[in-house]
Amino acid sequence: MIEMTNVYKKYPNGIVAANGIDVAIKQGEFVYVVGPSGAGKSTFIKMMYREERSTSGTIVVNGMNLATLKNKNVPYLRRQIGVVFQDFKLLPRLNVYENVAFALEVIEESPKIIRKKVMDVLELVGLKNKARMFPTELSGGEQQRVSIARSIVNTPKLVIADEPTGNLDPETSWEIMNIFEEINSRGTTIVMATHNREIVNTIRHRVIVVEGGLITRDEYGGDYGYEG
Ligand SMILES: Nc1ncnc2c1ncn2[C@@H]1O[C@H](COP(=O)(O)OP(=O)(O)O)[C@@H](O)[C@H]1O
Ligand SMILES: [Mg+2]
Repeated sequence: MIEMTNVYKKYPNGIVAANGIDVAIKQGEFVYVVGPSGAGKSTFIKMMYREERSTSGTIVVNGMNLATLKNKNVPYLRRQIGVVFQDFKLLPRLNVYENVAFALEVIEESPKIIRKKVMDVLELVGLKNKARMFPTELSGGEQQRVSIARSIVNTPKLVIADEPTGNLDPETSWEIMNIFEEINSRGTTIVMATHNREIVNTIRHRVIVVEGGLITRDEYGGDYGYEG
């Protein structure tokens, strides 16, 4: 479902953040992206949902060629991909329910369908009873649950997460990982950048190591490995 061929990315400041990346990720995989800070992990995954454009090379996601995808068609791509960030990025003036419903309202679903879908995903992340609360009234772990609910409410085939446990304590991080495991077990592809060595070494999945804009290791069931 994701295929990158000889992908190169140079930012306007001259920094090369991807220096010839080749990778193929199949539907249903769970992939950790690890490596030191500044290695190019975020750039690698941002190119998958066209937050960043590659300078050269080919990127195909869900059958769409992102190199030639017109800007007006980017929202169509984004609807097929859920994205989860380290800092949650919830809308502070909207309550939990509204934060999750927002993703559906912009595509004009009927109110009845919206209600059903939102309550179903809030149940999955264990927040059905906090639907009317606002982000500031929630713990970090709860905010991340909302952001995960938002990312899957459109039932995307792919969820991309950039250090989703980076702001959370170890126990909360495990709870968040269990939710990603559940989502993956239902067939959704997960691509997750992380610095969490303990999680990577315990819940084994494919590990892609990025260093200096290159994939230096790609191993199914691999360990975190790198020191630092
Ligand atoms: N928008 C940007 N403009 C210029 N340089 C950037 C930008 N984003 C990232 N970089 C640079 O690209 C390199 C890779 O960054 P990034 O992909 O964020 O790495 P990581 O997520 O592994 O920490 C770094 O040197 C970083 O400073
Ligand atoms: Mg990053």
